[in-house]
Amino acid sequence: SSQVDLTSVLSVDTRYKTETHAAASAGEQVVEETQVLFEANEEFRKNALVSSTEKYEEMYKQSVEDPDTFWSEIASQFHWEKKWDVTDGKVHTENFDVRKGPIKVEWFKGGKTNICYNALDRHVEAGRANDVAMFWEGNEPGYDSSVTFGNLLDLVSQVSNYLRSVGVKKGDAVVIYMPMLVELPVAMLACARIGAIHSVVFAGFSADSLAQRISDCKPKVVLTANGVMRGTKFINLKTIVDDALKQAKQEGYTVETSVVFANEVATKKEETAWVEGRDIWWQDVIPSQSTKSEVEWVDAEDPLFLLYTSGSTGKPKGVLHSTGGYMVYTATTFKHAFDYRPGEVYWCTADCGWITGHSYLTYGPLLNGATVVNFEGVPTYPDAGRCWEIVDKYNVNIFYTAPTAIRALMREGDKPVKKHLRKSLRVLGSVGEPINPAAWKWYYEVVGDSRCPISDTWWQTETGGFMITPMPGGWPLKPGSATFPFFGVQPAIVDENGKELHGECSGYLCVKASWPSTFRTLFGDHPRYETTYFAPFKGFYFSGDGCHRDKDGYYWLTGRVDDVINVSGHRIGSAEVESALVHHPLCAEAAVVGYDHEVKGQGIYAFVTLVEGVEYSDKLRKDLIAKVRSQIGPFAAPDIIHWAPGLPKTRSGKIMRRILRKIAASQIDELGDVSTLADPGVVEQLIELRDK
Ligand code: WTA
Repeated sequence: SSQVDLTSVLSVDTRYKTETHAAASAGEQVVEETQVLFEANEEFRKNALVSSTEKYEEMYKQSVEDPDTFWSEIASQFHWEKKWDVTDGKVHTENFDVRKGPIKVEWFKGGKTNICYNALDRHVEAGRANDVAMFWEGNEPGYDSSVTFGNLLDLVSQVSNYLRSVGVKKGDAVVIYMPMLVELPVAMLACARIGAIHSVVFAGFSADSLAQRISDCKPKVVLTANGVMRGTKFINLKTIVDDALKQAKQEGYTVETSVVFANEVATKKEETAWVEGRDIWWQDVIPSQSTKSEVEWVDAEDPLFLLYTSGSTGKPKGVLHSTGGYMVYTATTFKHAFDYRPGEVYWCTADCGWITGHSYLTYGPLLNGATVVNFEGVPTYPDAGRCWEIVDKYNVNIFYTAPTAIRALMREGDKPVKKHLRKSLRVLGSVGEPINPAAWKWYYEVVGDSRCPISDTWWQTETGGFMITPMPGGWPLKPGSATFPFFGVQPAIVDENGKELHGECSGYLCVKASWPSTFRTLFGDHPRYETTYFAPFKGFYFSGDGCHRDKDGYYWLTGRVDDVINVSGHRIGSAEVESALVHHPLCAEAAVVGYDHEVKGQGIYAFVTLVEGVEYSDKLRKDLIAKVRSQIGPFAAPDIIHWAPGLPKTRSGKIMRRILRKIAASQIDELGDVSTLADPGVVEQLIELRDK
């Protein structure tokens, strides 16, 4: 795609005819292209890091033709206690082809570094100890704090010393189940400092989900808090952790130490359930630690963290990232995709429980020495103007959020936005799902006053960092398109036979070669890593997403093509929801699909077959939803339960989701061929029961 010719699209506001494309075998996913171009103004482009398509194309060309030189030069800007090995001019090795042996990726091997050192000590040593590293804004307006790079280093050092004192060593796992306090990124950095592998579990997952993750990665220590307020809701994290630890114990794994941050704004210490000998207050053990902590120099290929994510089948996958490549890549993508300039204030609304909070709230920005805003609350509390109030309060220059948040705020109208000045905003970002052109335009025109470019960043937990993204100022934007690949990223759109398509096309989105933050494996299950991501299309990494490339070379993501549902930017496996539903004693079978949802992007639509003789009822519906909330977490609760006396199955017993998706979308006249069903009559029954 370095041959992309943009000259034909450089005129701003040219309205192309609206085209509709169906991603080749994504079949049902349709993309509406609103071919309106938005270009950053002259002034912006003059100062941009990548100020023209020519500049981008030149750098991109070098990055794919000689990735070793390209990335070595960038990596040299970090501190390496010992430089990486170079073999025949190469700093990386990879095999992306299952036919040629095991899949393997390595970058900067032999190099010794530490990501915490590079994110904190390096800046402190450069005289920036007193610069603000993080503004913390509490759920409740008026509750806030700020920490400098010096403060952050002290805090991280104390936590790392404590972890060492309870026996956590290099390579050990630590589970973090915490709300968005300063202490959450601190805990992550503390693990990194001593070479321990952090595994953050979003503090909205249920006890069952947490237990499953604990049993899988067997942490020495769990770090948590007793509770948190999100909006007006109190969440008792401690009882969830207690429950999870009990379950893990029953499954055979005992956690020795659970450190509990007393979050007194949310709940009282004396009201917190306690297990003597295992539980310990954070405030009783951390502040007394020394603020000096030696750095553990680790190999570039030593693991940094594990993050569980949903796949199309049952058990969550422990995506494992290593240190060196991840460090270099997240820092570089942050800088370029947001055109970050030293001294700027950056706010990412994601929670550290997801990859976005890892790469672009913690590591990427701090590695650049940026000042980040860490917000504990929700965008609509106490009112829909909260985000813009925060933007003005901290003079936020770069604001990064998800389409679901934009749509939720858009529903409240322009007034809550316009009440605040937002003069500091310069760049806006979007992540998590395709952003629909209407939301894009509102974000651009109302939030950004038609002044700020929008970086629609496509990437995944697995990729660690941005893969397809605008570089603001570099080229004109089309609302809804993530535009072009980042340096070093070689996307390929393939058909169902794995044949790469060229030019304007639609199909499955793959990547042809490794990039520095490629995930290295699935924790404890390398075969699953290979079969899920590398076996479907030989020679490529398969993303699981459908994609269209238009005649100008712009990439348009069209959503998942597997059984993963993207709800408010959160990946949920349909199999996980189904398995939670069938845990209910009265549920015989369940089939779950996604459907278009105005605010969440996709909602969860569950077809449920009850045990013979059981009557449908609203109570049962509620119980089933409660089952999913308790097995996975409230964010995975089905929006719709559709009673199903039978499910459409092939003669070999396979559920035909294609048909269920059509029924969920109310596209009854587009059901297609139902003749291969074992019992075509079930479709009629389902249609009849739609509003029951
Ligand atoms: C989707 C989140 C379109 C996509 C960083 C991907 C997007 C999944 C975008 C990964 C985007 C994320 N445009 N789709 N800008 N960003 N996605 O692992 O389906 O939580 O495969 O990582 O989100 O979700 P994950």
